[in-house]
Amino acid sequence: MNVLIVGSGGREHAIAQAVSKSSRCDRLYCAPGNAGIAALAECVPIGAMEFDKIVSFSKENAIDMVVVGMDDPLVGGLVDELEKAGIRAFGPRANAAIIEGSKAFSKDLMKKYNIPTAAYETFDDADKALEYLRTKAEFPIVLKADGLALGKGVLICETLADAEDGVKTIMQDKKFGSAGNKMVIEEFMTGREVSVLSFVDGKTVKIMSSAQDHKRAGDGDTGLNTGGMGNFSPSPFYTKEVDDFCQKNIFQPTVDAMAAEGRPFHGVIFFGLMLTPKGPRVLEYNARFGDPEAQVVLPRLENDILDVFDACIDGKLGDIDLKFSDKAAVCVVLASDGYPVKYEKGFPISGLENFDGKEDAFCFHAGTKFDESGRIVTNGGRVLGITALGSDLKDARRKAYEATEWVSFDNKYMRHDIGKAIDEA
Ligand code: AMP
Ligand code: GLY
Repeated sequence: MNVLIVGSGGREHAIAQAVSKSSRCDRLYCAPGNAGIAALAECVPIGAMEFDKIVSFSKENAIDMVVVGMDDPLVGGLVDELEKAGIRAFGPRANAAIIEGSKAFSKDLMKKYNIPTAAYETFDDADKALEYLRTKAEFPIVLKADGLALGKGVLICETLADAEDGVKTIMQDKKFGSAGNKMVIEEFMTGREVSVLSFVDGKTVKIMSSAQDHKRAGDGDTGLNTGGMGNFSPSPFYTKEVDDFCQKNIFQPTVDAMAAEGRPFHGVIFFGLMLTPKGPRVLEYNARFGDPEAQVVLPRLENDILDVFDACIDGKLGDIDLKFSDKAAVCVVLASDGYPVKYEKGFPISGLENFDGKEDAFCFHAGTKFDESGRIVTNGGRVLGITALGSDLKDARRKAYEATEWVSFDNKYMRHDIGKAIDEA
């Protein structure tokens, strides 16, 4: 098979690593990819939103499957465009990716099908939102821009004044662009967060593994929200009892609801959950692998990933016996100091060769490129995802932090408490 992966982050590097292990994969391409992916795939200079170019490249290079890693092209309908051109694609069509693309849609879906989530109201008018906040709201309260906002469109407001500012930020100043044309205001929940990634074939859902993300930039969960500064998998808090509840009340009901709405979901659903005192609740859905969640989950997948992708596309996931190694994994993100606000890039990275041939430590590239002289340099806020496998979570964490020392670049920044919760389990 000739395979094209669309995207350029650590998630796509982890997908590329899994695909390159498949005996079925002949040629592997990535658009646009990065300097790390280039060791596994031929990177082609086509942006993830350049649908016409992706379609013509796929035709010209006899691509048998396109794997879409990122949210923007999924929500924008890349899979639909590929299918129209007769090209097989792994990922949801636009009418199903809306589960991530519109928080108002996903909240309404959960309400209609009794899937446990925070109580909420939706607004497309700032004055009505303000009136609601002034008359009915209890604080803290959560404001969410409806559309895609790089994980940053969620504001937790302690007071009415904060919330009034939030409405202005989202709906009037349009800080998140058209994502703020609509807004969800929802109940503030408390509890531990767990991410669960799953494969879905339109009707069947099989979960991969649980993980816990660390979204804030600073140690001790301080600072701004980021795309994710590291994570560990599996989560010791995702117990058998929690799993039973989620399978029955969240996972299958979500997949059934999408099918019943005429929006069958094929691809990956990432369930963002909060384990509240009243039981597990959905925080959000994503229509793709998480980043860095993919980096701690995919290295443990024992199946041929192309078999699994095929089964998801063809509605045959029931035939797949999904297997994961019983190792634990921890990923520590090496970022550019200043991320997620302002940071310099273009610094050479040294020590990458220390990962060559390692079976239990991986360096996934998130934001890297080759400079004019062919050196690998930093090219983003999140630069590398250092992942280690271990016999248990503590072992994996120790190895991951050890491996963070193998590479260096100016500006290198990381959190030092990834996996701290492991000690509380
Ligand atoms: P989301 O993008 O919807 O997952 O929200 C980003 C982050 O905001 C989550 O990971 C939570 O930490 C927090 N969050 C979102 N919704 C709520 C809520 N209803 N109650 C408390 N925290 C929330
Ligand atoms: N790490 C969170 C996400 O991929 O959305």
